Amino acid sequence: MNLFGELAARFSPQVMGYLQEAGRLAAKEGRYCYIVGGLVRDLLLGWENTDIDLVVSGGGITFAEEIAARWGGRVVVFGDFDTAKVLLPAGWAIDVAGSRKEYYPRPGALPQVAAADLREDLWRRDFTINALALSLGPEDLGKVVDPFGGLEDLRRGFIRVLHDGSFRDDPTRLFRAVRFGVRYGFQVEDRTRRLMASAVEGGLVCCVSPQRLGAEMRKILAEEQVLPMLQMLADFGLLRAIHWALGEIDWALLRGVPSSLRALHLPCHGFAYLAGILFHQPLEAATEAAERLALSGAEQRKLRALLANWRFALWCLHWPNLRPSTIYDVLSTLPEEGLALLWAYSGASPIRERLIAYRERLSKVELSITGSDLVALGYRPGPSFGKVLRKVLRAKLDEEVATREDELSLADRMMGQLTKEDP
Ligand code: CTP
Repeated sequence: MNLFGELAARFSPQVMGYLQEAGRLAAKEGRYCYIVGGLVRDLLLGWENTDIDLVVSGGGITFAEEIAARWGGRVVVFGDFDTAKVLLPAGWAIDVAGSRKEYYPRPGALPQVAAADLREDLWRRDFTINALALSLGPEDLGKVVDPFGGLEDLRRGFIRVLHDGSFRDDPTRLFRAVRFGVRYGFQVEDRTRRLMASAVEGGLVCCVSPQRLGAEMRKILAEEQVLPMLQMLADFGLLRAIHWALGEIDWALLRGVPSSLRALHLPCHGFAYLAGILFHQPLEAATEAAERLALSGAEQRKLRALLANWRFALWCLHWPNLRPSTIYDVLSTLPEEGLALLWAYSGASPIRERLIAYRERLSKVELSITGSDLVALGYRPGPSFGKVLRKVLRAKLDEEVATREDELSLADRMMGQLTKEDP
């Protein structure tokens, strides 16, 4: 099989020129150069993918430096894996790795590597569909190398590991199996399924570092079919990786996420699903889960705010005749994902109306005055400024002030009172 035509249809003549030149250069030095991994798979499936991973014999970093020097690019080297990224002037990037085999000192650990031939390089990979290579050599440009039946599995729709030790070597592959299986509508082949079950039973996921687990979960949360992926993770007992004591998942809530995001005109948030998984968990469990996934400080704060405040917000929103400023006060304690989850959880229309009012109107209300206006009125800056400006904002939300002059005179009165109380 030859994929040159498919490759040329996907990339610009300039990029094709680079790729062909890389192949010629390698051949001149007696090396081989192949495109490997996801791009070959997606070329065959007709899926969008423009990430170029090259494998070369005779040293990845030296080859990356050579092509970067020729094309005016910059090289970023990754750790001890003979791997580098070439950053090209037009903003295009290409990953280069030396052809290698890997040895995993213990499950979940990063591998130790040694130079090896193409077959061994493909053998160390996760699934047959990802163990295909496309030659850039001038002699056989575009030819697909398929030593382990990847083409047949792509045709028949199977996710199949190459060897029994695959999940032990790298338990993040459990998550990859789910992601690729659902993304392409492929079945996890029987032996692979059994190996997954025993890897989960053997607790291999515990060996994965928070950074790697978090990275896998982020990829899943960014996928279009995130919900079926989460369901499949749950079926395999893999959601427990997020937290060992994770209780029942509220699937109805998670199913409501896309329509909630649409109704509130919020961008697609993978984070909403993660918060949805942890929605009914005690705050402590959610905090542990956030650490297990190596969430950033900002993400952890967002998750805590959401989980600590949604119940109170829901309780408040049930009351009749709420002032707009109260709705604002309650809902501004929640991140956007929290609004979406409340929408999905509440179902009731008065609550939903208030969520819409907050999103579309109240959250956009801004004061026309600032601290400088208070200085201009002769007040000394201090904590009272924030207090007074917040009160004026509440008055504006409740339509008690309309113009800039109204805001200014209310602020003046309040500042005067405060200064009298606390000279
Ligand atoms: N790979 C692997 N085991 C992993 C991660 C990656 O064997 N745990 C190999 C696979 O051959 C994979 C390639 O490295 O195809 C590139 O990995 P990556 O860029 O993470 O994924 P893609 O397969 O390109 O898929 P995606 O569409 O998700 O980027």
